[in-house]
Amino acid sequence: MNELVANLGVSYGDVLLELSYLLAAVFFVVGLKFQSHPLTARKGNLWAAAGMFLAMLTTLFLHKDADGNGIALTNGIIIVFSIAVAGVLGAVIARRVKMTAMPELVSFFNATGGGASALVALIEFSNPNNSSTLVTLLGLVIGSVAFSGSLIAYGKLDGKVGDIFAKWTTYLNLFLLGIVITIIVFILAGNISYDSQKLLVYGLLVISLIYGVMFVMPIGGADMPVVISLLNSFTGIAAAMGGFIYHNQAMILGGILVGAAGTILTILMCNAMNRSLFNVIIGAFGGGGAAATHEQGTIKEISLSDASILLSYSQKVVIIPGYGLAVAQAQHICHELDTLLEEKGVEVKYAIHPVAGRMPGHMNVLLAEADVPYEKLIEMDDINPSLPNTDVVVVIGANDVVNPAAHDDPSSPIYGMPIINAHEAKNIIVMKRGMGKGYAGIENFLFFNDKTRMLFGHAKESLQKLVNEIKTL
Ligand code: TAP
Repeated sequence: MNELVANLGVSYGDVLLELSYLLAAVFFVVGLKFQSHPLTARKGNLWAAAGMFLAMLTTLFLHKDADGNGIALTNGIIIVFSIAVAGVLGAVIARRVKMTAMPELVSFFNATGGGASALVALIEFSNPNNSSTLVTLLGLVIGSVAFSGSLIAYGKLDGKVGDIFAKWTTYLNLFLLGIVITIIVFILAGNISYDSQKLLVYGLLVISLIYGVMFVMPIGGADMPVVISLLNSFTGIAAAMGGFIYHNQAMILGGILVGAAGTILTILMCNAMNRSLFNVIIGAFGGGGAAATHEQGTIKEISLSDASILLSYSQKVVIIPGYGLAVAQAQHICHELDTLLEEKGVEVKYAIHPVAGRMPGHMNVLLAEADVPYEKLIEMDDINPSLPNTDVVVVIGANDVVNPAAHDDPSSPIYGMPIINAHEAKNIIVMKRGMGKGYAGIENFLFFNDKTRMLFGHAKESLQKLVNEIKTL
């Protein structure tokens, strides 16, 4: 063994470091696997975090530079101090954040990851030992776009930044992309002085930051989840570029896993919202809060006693949860309603739209929290064919994901987005506080449908009253 290590020209420390990276990668993959199911997702997070902790620890103690020197004591202290401060801050923020504000938190974390990768690239460009110029420039561009784009996404989700909807933004974005590519080619061609190259690199940084802003600015309403997931994959790719610069396997692997997971999620969400990835990249879609131009019908309300009778004497009931159920924190009482109905012999299922709520898997996580059995949650494509045979659909705090304008109004900003076909059920009960619009800010003509009856009120209170009423039957 000693001989083998000596022949390879490496030390035991190097071998141990690489082995720890391999182990960290295994932890990341196991973590991802666990994260693919709501019941094991928390465990998945812990596995991935343990992998990252291991990689950081071994890097700190075993990493050696080209001259065989470990990390200097002062640098070590700065690194440990930074990790401690950031770790505590991250934990406090993550603990305090409300479930409904999770996308904002994800955007904020994406921004920090992208910013860190861009800084690594910026510093390493001047390092004479760095031979990966293309990778460094790509890391700089992707990291900067992820940084500024995520900050804008954060501001938009938080309601602090408005949308810009104009055709010129598409042309401006294409123009900026053109400049970015031209600068990269110029630097790679290498026939300009080092000082000019450095100047161009700072120019690249500024233009990439502007591109990030302009790329997210026109994206509005229902399309935001796609862009957040895309920026998440950018952050991963930028981190992987940093890994290539440092020849660090853990960084490469971790970055690629985040990049790949983000890309897959982006594609799945594009499919769920019927958007093309190309349009996402040039920032040319979405937005518009234009109201559809249907003729409005009349709204019919339903009393609590009528609703309870209708539900209790049905055979098949499908609950369609949405963002309103999450803000109202009505998942527990909703589960009580479904248990009560099942005790009366009613078959109750939940229809889950992939982008219901404000983050991927929002409804799954919410209902898992209330111990709703996972088998009762049926994905949109699987439940839609059974809706014409469903006696009652109960739409609780959902709006855009059941808006038929997605099918029949080409002028609607959500036209083409797959929806849960609530309008096909025999009876429709909609529970919401009033006639407030959904995330896309458009009218929903499901509420004016002849088969629809509205049960107005805060979801939690209405459900509680409904449960009480059913108990008296
Ligand atoms: P939304 O279209 O946002 O509609 C939610 C409805 O809930 C509102 O119309 C509101 O009407 C009602 N509501 C609010 N608070 C309530 C309460 N306390 N009790 C009862 N009702 C309440 O929700 P959705 O159908 O779930 O659609 C999600 C939307 O968000 C989609 O457009 C999606 O693209 C977008 N989005 C999704 C994600 C992900 S990844 N899931 C991320 C960002 C954005 P009232 O005001 O009248 O009560």
